[in-house]
Amino acid sequence: MAITLNINGTKKSVDVPADTPLLWVIRDELKLTGTKFGCGMAQCGACTVHLNGAPQRSCVMPVGAAASMSITTIEAVDDQYSQALQAAWEELDVPQCGYCQSGQIMSAIGVLKNHPNPTDQNIDNGMSGNICRCASYGNIRKAILLAASKIKTTEV
Ligand code: FES
Ligand code: FES
Repeated sequence: MAITLNINGTKKSVDVPADTPLLWVIRDELKLTGTKFGCGMAQCGACTVHLNGAPQRSCVMPVGAAASMSITTIEAVDDQYSQALQAAWEELDVPQCGYCQSGQIMSAIGVLKNHPNPTDQNIDNGMSGNICRCASYGNIRKAILLAASKIKTTEV
């Protein structure tokens, strides 16, 4: 069955069953491999994308349910939040192996959108579903706070 997706600002038609996980479609059909497969059970956050601007786990989202939404993957985020986070990530050398990092950034964008001056609790709430096997949590927290300060001082 052909399903039309609104992804990264363009319409894409895919011929897959409606219950196919969105993550499979993003990676295998559309070849957008920045979004990662980790657990497949909404437990790790590696597959995080934005649906209508909010972070969601794409591994448990049927593609048919996402067809009416605006889907954004790590390849297409380009706003003040993503730019500030990317700059902070680089400045603090956050990634270790890197596998979880696209999901971390997608969730971190959600934190900053909802909390321009995030508290530790805001960060905990927004990031707790994103697992990092390399335990880069301390630097991720610092980078989110640095990105928030960059946005405030319009460095980005
Ligand atoms: S792969 Fe989706 S949450 Fe782990
Ligand atoms: S940087 Fe390796 S899993 Fe997070």
